[in-house]
Amino acid sequence: MPASTEERIIRPAQNVRGSLRLPGDKSISHRYGMLAAFAEGVSRFRNFSTGADCASTLACMEALGAQVRKLDDGSVEIAGVGGRVRPAEAPLDCGNSGSTMRMIAGLLAPQEGRFTLVGDESLSRRPMERILKPLAAMGARLTLTEGHAPLMIDGGPLKAIDYTTPVPSAQVKTCILLAGLQTEGTTTVREAVRTRDHSELALQAFGAKLTRTLDAVSIAGSQKLHAIEAAVPGDISSAAFFLCAAALFPGSNLVLDFLGLNPTRAALLDVLTALGAQISVLNLEEKNAELVGTVQVSAPAEGLGATEISGALAAQLIDELPVLAAIGPYTAGGIRIRDAKELRVKESDRIALVAKNLRAMGAEVTEFEDGLDVPGGQKLHGATIDSGSDHRIAMAFSVAALKAEGQTLIQGAESAAISFPEFFDLLDLVAER
Ligand code: S3P
Repeated sequence: MPASTEERIIRPAQNVRGSLRLPGDKSISHRYGMLAAFAEGVSRFRNFSTGADCASTLACMEALGAQVRKLDDGSVEIAGVGGRVRPAEAPLDCGNSGSTMRMIAGLLAPQEGRFTLVGDESLSRRPMERILKPLAAMGARLTLTEGHAPLMIDGGPLKAIDYTTPVPSAQVKTCILLAGLQTEGTTTVREAVRTRDHSELALQAFGAKLTRTLDAVSIAGSQKLHAIEAAVPGDISSAAFFLCAAALFPGSNLVLDFLGLNPTRAALLDVLTALGAQISVLNLEEKNAELVGTVQVSAPAEGLGATEISGALAAQLIDELPVLAAIGPYTAGGIRIRDAKELRVKESDRIALVAKNLRAMGAEVTEFEDGLDVPGGQKLHGATIDSGSDHRIAMAFSVAALKAEGQTLIQGAESAAISFPEFFDLLDLVAER
């Protein structure tokens, strides 16, 4: 992302009401885009993510020989390379996207040729050792600069491994599976906390065979993928901003249809229910093994209660924690988050930025190395928010601003487009002033 440029004013709201269909899930779009580009044949996707992160993935895959076309009806068509990428002359630009860099590295490590992956300033600060270690154990030749991008890959045949991820990470799991897919023998990834399983479901949808137990996934090597057609479910991590906003206003009523409800992603619904929000799920169906449904939320008349998020739940809710912390002051008993040290190495240090911005709005908050304690029963006032060019911080504090006294200025608001370019327009649509 370039330096913060766009500022947005968010005025308080009286209520949140309406019904929305959200753009396709970012995690699923990355995987569908990458796998379609690698597969044999032409894939077509409706409701593909509109975010800049997924555009980075598609641009990288185009540079590697795939053909990507936007159709008139908004779908994305991808003609794959049939299992062998074209050597990329220029560095592959992953932009702001950790998913792009970590997952493509696994796809490229077993391919013949030299590849360089670069990213923006934020991505160039993020830890990449976590993919270097397992890929090196498979025999890959990778070079980092002090643990960070640029990442140089000298690709070639690898050997299968059995690897336990030290930090729960779906990106690292995916990186290893994509390398394992092209390696002789069976590769196994074990994880202590089950992270999002979109890669497992997508690989199967594209025809790969894998076996799964509660805490492990194994993939046999030398498998071919073939093209699919799919509609990408709405992004539940984008929905989180609207669900939390609706949970703040007694009398609210928000309906989100065609929303992705994969159980490894939907823990937010349980947390909001535990806080007292009324949530119903309707029309549940399966699309390419991904659960999709309609979610209706309204706020409790007596206001939200209290909750603590720690252990496995913190890992599963990692992308939703900023917005949950941002609405913490408006709950009766507060929101306490622990075991979420990973927040410090996301697009920004999300623990530090959430604490800084909550304080700017007049809240009291305690910061831990691995989380935050946000006491409830606090009133917030409008303030200038430093988003740190981090999309989830910009959107989380736009939600907090809806219930603050006075207006809030979001600096670096353009960062929302990393995952959700339509965010501010849709917020205007459902926030009643
Ligand atoms: C993602 C996994 C998570 C998440 C990120 C998307 C994915 O990151 O925070 O936004 O699509 O696999 P980690 O793998 O680093 O936990």
